[in-house]
Amino acid sequence: MSPPKAGFSFRCIGCCLLSATAARDFRCAQCNNLLEITDPSWKLSSLNATALKSMWRERRSSNATLDLSGVWRFRELLPVPDSVQQVVTLREGNTPLYELPLSSRITGVSRLYGKHQGMNPTGSFKDAGMTVAATFARQAGYRWVACASTGNTSASMAAYAARGGMRSLVLVPEGKISWSKLSQALDYGALTCQLRTDFDGCLRLLQELVRRAPVYQLNSINPFRLEGQKTLALELLEQLDWQPPDHIVLPGGNLGNSSAIGKALLEMLDIGLISHLPKLSVIQAEGANSLVRTLREAEGKRLISVPAETRATAIRIGNPASWEKAVKVIQATGGACEQVSEVEIAQAKAEIGAEGVGCEPASAVTLAGLKKLVRQGFVKPDETVVLVLTGNLLKDPDFTMEFHRGDLFRGTPHERAADSLKALRHPPIVLDATLDAVIQTLERAEKSDPAHPNAKPNA
Ligand code: F0G
Repeated sequence: MSPPKAGFSFRCIGCCLLSATAARDFRCAQCNNLLEITDPSWKLSSLNATALKSMWRERRSSNATLDLSGVWRFRELLPVPDSVQQVVTLREGNTPLYELPLSSRITGVSRLYGKHQGMNPTGSFKDAGMTVAATFARQAGYRWVACASTGNTSASMAAYAARGGMRSLVLVPEGKISWSKLSQALDYGALTCQLRTDFDGCLRLLQELVRRAPVYQLNSINPFRLEGQKTLALELLEQLDWQPPDHIVLPGGNLGNSSAIGKALLEMLDIGLISHLPKLSVIQAEGANSLVRTLREAEGKRLISVPAETRATAIRIGNPASWEKAVKVIQATGGACEQVSEVEIAQAKAEIGAEGVGCEPASAVTLAGLKKLVRQGFVKPDETVVLVLTGNLLKDPDFTMEFHRGDLFRGTPHERAADSLKALRHPPIVLDATLDAVIQTLERAEKSDPAHPNAKPNA
């Protein structure tokens, strides 16, 4: 099977200049703003919405390489390489949409779902974008790909580079990313540099590097990444039988994902795949709230950078590259932008864990943010809400262990507030290896925790 013919071009989000090629820094030659990919064929009448929906569904029973990928299955709305042989894929996408009954009870929102992007091959949503960007890096003949990262991008890039026969250079802030993510990059064979700076410092350096050395930039400034990440929204809508939810809530860091999902929603509306837009809301950590402040204090007209600090290290970003794209899609869909505290994040993460689903701290800002949006009346209890869970629970075991042992906030200004989370903690218990000890522990747990969310009478 050959993919449809490539007919895309790059469009500057500032001055709208169209170009057939992009410079290595993916910035507009005229005004230096970010680029996005556009393809007039996406709007042609030949793209009949009903035919597309049934073709995409049919591909789920096909064993062809492109059809097995939950990204390339939607290739009619993606830039496609010259030949299928160029495609670098790990069968990304096809992620589950879970009902979240406990979170539903907590928030009062009756139809609440989690779209779990942490179930991707490297454990985060990055894979959906990486398959497309790595494919175009390979087609362009690059030997080296590179990124700055808070961890997940580097893990994903390293994996796709390895699959595509390319070498990868990772720039991460020293001591500020989880071991789990760092170890992935090492195992996939990346040249990994821990720089004595923060994520924003790493990204600045990378952008200088790509102007000087023949390396291909795989940060979300790269618009091919965002094209792949669009498929999250396509797949979600397919899972909901093309009935748009009222709200999609997702975490905001460098703001590539918000931009990608927003772009997908607007394109879907344009083509007639959906009849109206869900509201897209972005949640940040209070300590990395650049977009919140940009919207509140500057009406989204200029970026307000912040020194970023949060234990949700994936979104520890103070100078988000795609802020302008994100502002546009929040405003176009009528969404909101909120911030949540460190304690609220930890609580929401434990609550998503108690669903038997689990996620990494950055993903949990969605549930914490939803609680606020419900309190504000922005989200109504009878509306349908989808939380985008961006990363797998296993991505940050240190956070999880420290939380359950009661160490996460020890010696921090949040220590007192975190006392309220005691009931959610389940620390491991060291016992003598005797039956009595285990039975006593079991009985104590039953007595002390009769209202445990999963407590059911024994059969
Ligand atoms: N959630 C997780 C788990 C992430 O890893 C990231 C970003 C985000 C949310 C925010 O997404 O940047 O598109 O707004 N991680 C990047 C990285 C920055 O390097 O792994 P965004």
